[in-house]
Amino acid sequence: MNDYLLNAAYLVAAVLFILGLMALNSPRTARRGIFLAEIGMLLAVVGTLLRNEIVSFEWIIVGFIIGSLIGGAMAIFMPMTAMPQRIALSHSFGALAAALVGIVKYNEHLPHVDNALMVVIGFEVLLGSLTVTGSLMAFGKLQELIKGAPIVYPFQNISNIILFFGTVSLFIILIFFPGLTVLFYVLIGAALLVGILMVLPIGGADMPVVLALLNSYSGLAAAATGFAIDNKMLIIAGSLDGASGFFLSMMMSKAMNRSFANVLFGAVGSAPSGQAATGQEEAKTVTRYTPEDVSYMLENARSVIIIPGYGMAVAQAQHVVQELSASLIARGILVRFAIHPVAGRMPGHMNVLLAEANVPYDLLCEPEQINDDFPNTDVVIVVGANDVVNPAARYKKDSPLYGMPIFDADKAHTIVVLKRSLNPGFAGEDNELFYDKKTMMVFGDAKKTLTSLVQLLKERAAVAV
Ligand code: TAP
Repeated sequence: MNDYLLNAAYLVAAVLFILGLMALNSPRTARRGIFLAEIGMLLAVVGTLLRNEIVSFEWIIVGFIIGSLIGGAMAIFMPMTAMPQRIALSHSFGALAAALVGIVKYNEHLPHVDNALMVVIGFEVLLGSLTVTGSLMAFGKLQELIKGAPIVYPFQNISNIILFFGTVSLFIILIFFPGLTVLFYVLIGAALLVGILMVLPIGGADMPVVLALLNSYSGLAAAATGFAIDNKMLIIAGSLDGASGFFLSMMMSKAMNRSFANVLFGAVGSAPSGQAATGQEEAKTVTRYTPEDVSYMLENARSVIIIPGYGMAVAQAQHVVQELSASLIARGILVRFAIHPVAGRMPGHMNVLLAEANVPYDLLCEPEQINDDFPNTDVVIVVGANDVVNPAARYKKDSPLYGMPIFDADKAHTIVVLKRSLNPGFAGEDNELFYDKKTMMVFGDAKKTLTSLVQLLKERAAVAV
């Protein structure tokens, strides 16, 4: 393919990626953003495949078939609720590709690897390898194959810091002595270990920051690959991915009210969370209600705030949540949705589900827009949310949630909580909101409870007419 044409294709693809990212800023334009980015990716892949350097397509076709089979199976069979794990796996695949390309490039240039090339390859294998194991650990935690809470042991911080700086030192030595093949593979082994040990102590509510950070690392590894194989498209796409992942992790840190250092090293030294019984607690009781009780409460409300959480995704209750909100609005009740940035298991999880159910975007409010309104709200309906309304975040210093801004649901006149049991949320912290005298616990699958609730409201409205 003509070089001018190839560069033009890459340029258009890069512009489409940037426009796609911009459109992802709002749920209104997000679908268009994804579509633009898909066209950009198609252009980039087709342009690359037409490059003159490609001597044989055999292995490319094999890779294409295997990749398509794995990707297709994941898209078809992995449920929406497992999307965060799927994303963690995708990061690890991308990073693995970058690390493998780095190893191939290194061997291709042996015994005379240029120092500048070593910088690029070093970045590629370092970031690639630690992202592979880090993302697999994140996958394990999200899939609950590994304990979700922080895993801590004595001298963890200091040993992690020594390992990290040791790994960076290996990288620097290799830049000056690229021919030290053994050191190259030790660097890869050390980076794989860093990935595991970095994610072990992170857990509970801090996982969103780590996921975004791993996203950023896999992007940077891809950008380094672009330098190594001289592909401008990879450099641009990897840099965009790296930068957006970094911004996302900063936004997630802000949502959690944490600094990076606190997320990465905060678990160490903290007491095990929440559940330790002192033997002095009062016996706590909850009050169990039925959908019928809630329907009466709602009929007399003037304002309602719905707080969705991970349980709404598990129950796939978004459509019936939309029906409930529409029926309340039709009765003249002020209805809004309170969306926490870390609700669910991936950034924007609740926005995506509610958009799928056609909930109007202007009903969705962020914490700072709505938190002052809770004391004046008649009924708050918590649909499968837990950590994002847990008051322990305000005062319990040994809690993994401590410091995270939460919704002040406990300040509303009445709180209705829809969940199946008294089990804690992702952070493993017991929630005192459930024991509050103002709280109506309705146990059961959120979709079933809401379906009965909507039905009852409909029947009552029909009788009234
Ligand atoms: P969680 O605190 O995880 O609580 C979800 C609740 O949903 C659980 O307590 C569960 O209780 C309930 N539930 C599950 N299935 C249900 C069903 N079918 N019907 C009704 N309820 C159901 O959720 P959250 O409040 O959204 O908080 C999110 C947490 O995940 C935060 O700690 C956050 O840091 C973390 N996290 C977030 C992300 C991102 S990026 N958003 C990524 C990783 C981790 P029962 O079992 O009793 O029903």
